[in-house]
Amino acid sequence: MKVRIAPSILSADFGRLAEEIAMCVSGGADVIHLDVMDGRFVPNITFGEKMIQTVRRLTSLPLDVHMMVDEPERYFDSFAGAGATGLTIHTEASPHLQRQLGRIRELGCLAGAAVNPATSLASVREVTSDLDLLLVMTVNPGFGGQSFIPASVDKVGRARRLLDELGSRAALEVDGGVARDTIEKLWRAGADTFVAGNAIFAAGDLRAEIAALRQICLETV
Ligand code: DX5
Ligand code: ZN
Repeated sequence: MKVRIAPSILSADFGRLAEEIAMCVSGGADVIHLDVMDGRFVPNITFGEKMIQTVRRLTSLPLDVHMMVDEPERYFDSFAGAGATGLTIHTEASPHLQRQLGRIRELGCLAGAAVNPATSLASVREVTSDLDLLLVMTVNPGFGGQSFIPASVDKVGRARRLLDELGSRAALEVDGGVARDTIEKLWRAGADTFVAGNAIFAAGDLRAEIAALRQICLETV
């Protein structure tokens, strides 16, 4: 399984965004993760279409857009048009998940579904064939820099088994509190895509931190 490191620009210094994204690229980041928050689904407000466009101009890496918003379908067209490569929606905000995932694929994007810590994996079981990515949240969404929830490791293991059992090739992404001290357990449990905000952007050397996170996985048999 390939390790994919996805820096979350939520923790970047927006005044130096171009420079910090360039460092992520030269440090070997596989994906750039963008956290869109609406102040309703989660308490915080971040950014939307304009930021996706801006980042699209700064890099050719895939852009993984994590939509922490109610009624996410209202933004599918504009985010796809702005250059998103993948759109991930929360099951808790998506009553018609199967149709919504289908629409994301129709727009040419990878379709992702995210589950909060309190949400059962049963919420995605019936749509695994519609999924390109399953995001298991390892904190309650809304803010960067929160503490990792230890019980998530077991959930990631169950998510891995669910995808394998149903023959899904979807990526298994984890998001929240991913750092040097948590990544090994998550990788062992079967995650392959690691979002990291604070761990990367608060590090003195972004590039070294990306390499270190990847190396921990590669050294773990
Ligand atoms: C949290 C966001 C995350 C956040 C992760 O709601 O979805 O992507 O940026 O930040 P860290 O890695 O700092 O926990
Ligand atoms: Zn995120």
